[in-house]
Amino acid sequence: MRAVVYHGPGRKTWEEVTDPSIVDDTDAVVRVDAVTICGTDLHILKGDVPEVTDGRILGHEAVGTVVATGSGVRRVHTGDRVLVSCISACGTCRYCRSGSFGQCLGGGGWILGHTTDGVQAEYARVPFTDTSTYPIPENVADEDVLMLADIGPTGYEVGVLNGRVSPGDVVAVVGSGPIGLSAIMGAKLYSPSQIIAIDLADSRLDAAKQFGADVMVNSSREDAGEIVRGLTEGLGCDVAIEAVGVPSTFELCTDLVRPGGTVANVGVHGQPAMMHLEKLWIRNVTVRTGLVDTYSTPTLLKLVARGQLDMGRFITHRFGMSDFMDAYDVFGNAATTQALKVVLTGSTGAPS
Ligand SMILES: NC(=O)c1ccc[n+]([C@@H]2O[C@H](COP(=O)([O-])OP(=O)(O)OC[C@H]3O[C@@H](n4cnc5c(N)ncnc54)[C@H](O)[C@@H]3O)[C@@H](O)[C@H]2O)c1
Ligand SMILES: [Zn+2]
Ligand SMILES: [Zn+2]
Repeated sequence: MRAVVYHGPGRKTWEEVTDPSIVDDTDAVVRVDAVTICGTDLHILKGDVPEVTDGRILGHEAVGTVVATGSGVRRVHTGDRVLVSCISACGTCRYCRSGSFGQCLGGGGWILGHTTDGVQAEYARVPFTDTSTYPIPENVADEDVLMLADIGPTGYEVGVLNGRVSPGDVVAVVGSGPIGLSAIMGAKLYSPSQIIAIDLADSRLDAAKQFGADVMVNSSREDAGEIVRGLTEGLGCDVAIEAVGVPSTFELCTDLVRPGGTVANVGVHGQPAMMHLEKLWIRNVTVRTGLVDTYSTPTLLKLVARGQLDMGRFITHRFGMSDFMDAYDVFGNAATTQALKVVLTGSTGAPS
């Protein structure tokens, strides 16, 4: 079969590799029907994620059809269509028992396309299948659920739920990439009074408007603090969601939030950020961080199946898997291509 293989910083190829097979009895092998690329894959290719080693198949977001199962797999059967989540769960460790699958101690967590081979491939081995995949209802298309492999639960859990968004809240979302847009979409489920999207790129702010933001702020030329305080009688927003991952946007969130409000950090940070305790100590502010756990995936799947959440709207470009390198170029040049998420669909048939 063919797969996207990482060969060190800046180097990836769509190449012939050995077909995956069952290694542990809780594994399945799936034929990948639809797969996407994540900003995290671009971080890997920059060399920011050193645990990813030469020869690793990338990818952690896919929909596939089960073609083989290990002897210990109970819930998933050959022929089933499943969502393969970015987070795998052993299902038995103390973190999995409390729904914090991202922190799994039993060999799960974010492993696909990271410490084990991923899903940007014609076929993939899926560890801990019973506890790491989600059956896809019959009436739901692959493209409608694919974004629940990562960005859906990430924006919802780490942004909206960690931020404790409540009816009537004023919610500021800093960063309108796929994750910020997912947070905007998730926040809408709680009837906030206003969502303020903050970004440097007008094209991303246009997308934020389409995804339901009420006020768009281009912080390269407008003062986000002044605008948010102007809309909240000088208090600040109830919830500030950080969806960029640089120090200045985290610091902006702590500046935007009202006394008693919550900052939910979603961005992955590579540098230390300043926590201005000299201003914050008196303000009863809560700051939460998190890696997505995907405990909300069944909830989001229900909303997708009932037509209450449209996750397909993230898709701006479509490719066949043999055009994976072109898809990476389009996704990696979002400023010029306006890409949000790209989808690649595979061929059908048995492993060759
Ligand atoms: N916590 C988690 O579990 C988790 C999971 C997935 C992704 N992430 C992280 O979430 C973050 C967002 O992901 P994404 O895929 O949407 O990224 P992205 O790069 O597509 O989008 C980031 C957006 O932020 C904007 N931006 C950049 N600098 C800015 C600034 N100074 N002020 C305002 N806006 C600015 C960009 O214009 C862009 O629209 C990343 O850091 C990613 O690694 C976290
Ligand atoms: Zn991802
Ligand atoms: Zn576990």
